[in-house]
Amino acid sequence: MSDKTCAIMLEPLQGEGGIINGDPEFLKAVRRLADKYDALVIFDEVQTGVGRTGELFAYMGTDIEPDILTSAKALGGGFPIAAMLTTAKVAEHLKVGTHGSTYGGNPLACAIGNAVMDVVNTKEVLDGVKHREQLYRDGLAAINAKYNVFSEVRGKGLLLGAVLNEKYQGRSREFLVASVAEGLMCLIAGANVIRFAPSLVIPETDIAEGLARFERAVAKVVAG
Ligand SMILES: Cc1ncc(COP(=O)(O)O)c(C=O)c1O
Repeated sequence: MSDKTCAIMLEPLQGEGGIINGDPEFLKAVRRLADKYDALVIFDEVQTGVGRTGELFAYMGTDIEPDILTSAKALGGGFPIAAMLTTAKVAEHLKVGTHGSTYGGNPLACAIGNAVMDVVNTKEVLDGVKHREQLYRDGLAAINAKYNVFSEVRGKGLLLGAVLNEKYQGRSREFLVASVAEGLMCLIAGANVIRFAPSLVIPETDIAEGLARFERAVAKVVAG
């Protein structure tokens, strides 16, 4: 690593960009090129990290390892905290005093981050995310079999995006508004994707209830 080292930053699974899974070959090429040109690979895992994809961090489900990883949001379970993780090799360049911030290392935030990790970094929670992903995928497939609104369901774990098909292009907000009218909070990721990012420990009965409400919302939009 030299003074001129540059970096490439990406999300292993794009969140706001439309719930787009990182293509494994693309990620491997990024790693290969970064190594070739002495660049650092930084993964923004603010949305994908802390169990969201069913791995502790999403890179663990890819074939590559970033040099730096950013984490926040879920790391504090609602309390403001962010963290930057590096390999030991990169960390050697961060001497004490070179990377300060007003709230850096805040003891309360760190205690909360530790408590979150104790809960999330368990087989029970991480396997539970994968199990719940299947419940969502099955439920969304059943809704789609009835109403034919999605071209695919993308994403991983509990960061899923139902992609609107040709007929409903640009209308994700209508599905969002119809869902709110049913008392359901979902999100959108652009004009063509309805995003589901529930609690990692959402009870199965809530998933069933949420999907039933979402189905009613879909039925309303389809009926016009
Ligand atoms: C992937 C990702 N990275 C970084 C951020 C940065 O968050 P903020 O601008 O709130 O610090 C967000 C916020 O949603 C995000 O989704």
